[in-house]
Amino acid sequence: MFSNAEAYEQFMGRWSRLVAPKLVGFSELPERGRVLDVGSGTGSLSFAVADRSAKAQVDGIDPPKEYVAYASQRNRFPDRVRFQVGDAQALQMPDRQFDAAVSLLVFNFLPDANKALLEVRRVTKPGGRISAAVWDYADGMKMLRLFWEAAVAVDPGAEQHTEKSMKLCRQGELASLWKQSGLVGVREEPLEITTRFQSFADYWDAFLLGQGTAGAYAVRLTNEQKQALRSELKRRLALPAEGTPFSLPARVWAVRGDVPKEG
Ligand SMILES: C[S@@+](CC[C@H](N)C(=O)[O-])C[C@H]1O[C@@H](n2cnc3c(N)ncnc32)[C@H](O)[C@@H]1O
Repeated sequence: MFSNAEAYEQFMGRWSRLVAPKLVGFSELPERGRVLDVGSGTGSLSFAVADRSAKAQVDGIDPPKEYVAYASQRNRFPDRVRFQVGDAQALQMPDRQFDAAVSLLVFNFLPDANKALLEVRRVTKPGGRISAAVWDYADGMKMLRLFWEAAVAVDPGAEQHTEKSMKLCRQGELASLWKQSGLVGVREEPLEITTRFQSFADYWDAFLLGQGTAGAYAVRLTNEQKQALRSELKRRLALPAEGTPFSLPARVWAVRGDVPKEG
């Protein structure tokens, strides 16, 4: 039986780990200083920041204790990276603590993303950079799009569960939020990775871990419905054999902006 953090790693963490260095590159963070990782989960982005900026100190915050414990256990930079329980919408930190802040695959899940960004801005120093990225669920995240297209083909009711209408996932939406919050020099870009699967099972089994909206949908299906969805996915992938490796593209929208120098 997997813990949630382990299941997250197998379902999404393996892909967020590939995007994390791209977001760090796009962010152009300072070589040294304190960086806040908002919604650090299993730690991939914090570790990517520590890898890239040799003198950076990273604080990762995430609400569930289990994620904090899991990331702490994997911590390869115990002198420079630490994880603690925290809520982006109510940060328990004094003003102007951090030289930069980053966040990967989190803002779309926050009930009040605007409040969270204002909190992140509050704890970031004037001139500090705040960056974030979310999956392009509506189009560019093929691993999930394919799943939902097959799900809707076998069960039209599945349409209401798709992430298509999730907020902050379309081009321009993160950038608007960043501008509304008074950040300056706002820039948004797509960042692309390839999700590579060893076999059909490598793709399908991850949904049965119950992670995310797609996983939650998959585990609620009856065995018969699961078989129908599995067959439809296989048909759409058109692999020569179940054991054939294959790749799918995945894209995030990434945004960056700076806290104005005057505060
Ligand atoms: C899709 S995961 C991304 C985790 C990690 N950043 C990564 O890229 O692998 C979303 C994360 O947001 C966290 N989260 C949810 N609500 C939050 C909140 N109010 N404040 C901070 N993090 C939150 C979740 O616990 C989860 O770890």
